[in-house]
Amino acid sequence: MFIGTPLISEEQIQKKVKALAHKISSDYKDKDVVVIGILKGSFMFFSDLIRYIKTPVRVDFIMASSYVKDVSSGEVKIHYFPTEELEDKDILLVDDIIDTGISLKIIQDRILAMNPASLRICVFLDKAERRVVDVHVDYVGFKIPNKFVVGYGLDYHEMFRNLPYITVFKKELK
Ligand code: IMP
Ligand code: MG
Repeated sequence: MFIGTPLISEEQIQKKVKALAHKISSDYKDKDVVVIGILKGSFMFFSDLIRYIKTPVRVDFIMASSYVKDVSSGEVKIHYFPTEELEDKDILLVDDIIDTGISLKIIQDRILAMNPASLRICVFLDKAERRVVDVHVDYVGFKIPNKFVVGYGLDYHEMFRNLPYITVFKKELK
């Protein structure tokens, strides 16, 4: 399947993910980090990222949804939340993209309420122009313009998640 011209190619993605994992491995070298992926969007980035992290990690997931079509509903539903104790743990939250920041803010507050030892956020894409709430992000793959993108885990109506690259969604791709 080939849809659209890549905005970020497979090679660029893999190079960047390796670099992020390298930085994370060195930042957490003496820590026992719990890496929590936010589903569904982060599944591909998450699995590449942890594969390249050289220090021991534990993994868990949060399943949340916030998006109706390509307009943020501003509402976040949490369908699954880690069952293990997060108190005193070093947590690295991984998401596909930060857009308005609303969902990450809500998820961040839920985790902080559980008194982790530390909490950092890693996102693959950052659409900074669209931010409506202030969220500090520690690791960013790529900053992108205000365009709706698909691929590498990101979807439009559950489609295009399996593209190995990022492309700008156009209605004619439907
Ligand atoms: P936020 O709460 O507005 O920051 O939106 C977060 C979620 O919206 C992301 O985790 C994605 O699942 C989805 N999202 C935001 N922008 C895009 C996009 O360009 N393509 C696909 N999904 C997006
Ligand atoms: Mg998401």
